Amino acid sequence: MEGKQKTIGVLTSGGDAPGMNAAVRSVVRSAIFKGMRVLGIRRGYSGLLAKDMVEMDVRSVCDILHRGGTILYTARCPEFRDDAGVEKGKQICQEMGIDGLVVIGGDGSFRGARDLSLKGIPCIGIPGTIDNDIASSDYTVGFDTAINTVMDMVDKLRDTSQSHDRCSVVEVMGRHCGDIALYAGIACGAVAILLPEVPFSIDEIAAKMKRTLQTGKKNFIVMVAEGVTSVDGITNVESIAKAIEERTGVESRTTVLGHVQRGGAPTARERVLASEMGYRAVELLAEGIGNRVVVCRENKIVDLDILEALNMKRTFNKRLYDISDAISI
Ligand code: ADP
Ligand code: F6P
Repeated sequence: MEGKQKTIGVLTSGGDAPGMNAAVRSVVRSAIFKGMRVLGIRRGYSGLLAKDMVEMDVRSVCDILHRGGTILYTARCPEFRDDAGVEKGKQICQEMGIDGLVVIGGDGSFRGARDLSLKGIPCIGIPGTIDNDIASSDYTVGFDTAINTVMDMVDKLRDTSQSHDRCSVVEVMGRHCGDIALYAGIACGAVAILLPEVPFSIDEIAAKMKRTLQTGKKNFIVMVAEGVTSVDGITNVESIAKAIEERTGVESRTTVLGHVQRGGAPTARERVLASEMGYRAVELLAEGIGNRVVVCRENKIVDLDILEALNMKRTFNKRLYDISDAISI
């Protein structure tokens, strides 16, 4: 209706990620700046279906820019995978007068946004996951902070590995995408980076370590993505460490970083990107445009059709992987 004040909803969904709060803050402030009303929906699609939402004002999002996690909480909502759940979500949006929805989450959350869009509720996705596994975007909110967290933790591990002439085998998050392991592995000088995208052989890893031992290197970092692919069936960090110790004689210890990678104060890069993405999402909804995802491509914030985005295939940065292998001899 012409002249009617637009109301938008915003939610965070799936695995939380540092920077989500920066995105929420930008969505709320941008929308209010443009004369819109904003409803913060708690706990992702579960909260939508439970009508767990609260009107947000400019002060609702103060003092959150520097905080990890999400003030809107997040959840995984199996009900939303069914058409009946999405239909219920559409009806609730209509009942609550929500003219458009910003969904901050990963691929799964984008699929929910796609389904809601197809039912007539304009949705805009913002890529929020530490995995950096969204094909349509070169970057996802949470990734930069996660790799910096891993780097800080592994720098600490390096102290003790150095003192004991040991190998630290470190498991990081990333079920299907090894970007956390790849980027943090390079930043930490890992002698080997084991990924879902590149099947590894423990014999080859051990042979490389023995060659570097010959050059005088005495301590090692081996970075392992949790979804690693192995040619010899050795995939968990304990068995990888045992196999390395048996083959090289280097005492090996394991560390699983786990959910510490999901927390912490977002980096400056994270906050800026998330803020820019939030603003662009609101611009689109203000122009009556929905069913898009806001992504980062070649360092620019652009938007793509949500169906096109979900049909894209992720490209693995093989060059970066090869560089990591070459400079860790
Ligand atoms: P992420 O968004 O981080 O990938 P999930 O894969 O858990 O996390 O997805 C988050 C939520 O998105 C799910 O709990 C579900 O509510 C919704 N979702 C996931 N996949 C689909 C799908 N194929 N269709 C509709 N909704 C989905
Ligand atoms: O998708 C982000 C992620 O952190 C993955 O890297 C990890 O495997 C998964 O979430 C863990 O999920 P949960 O927090 O539900 O245990």
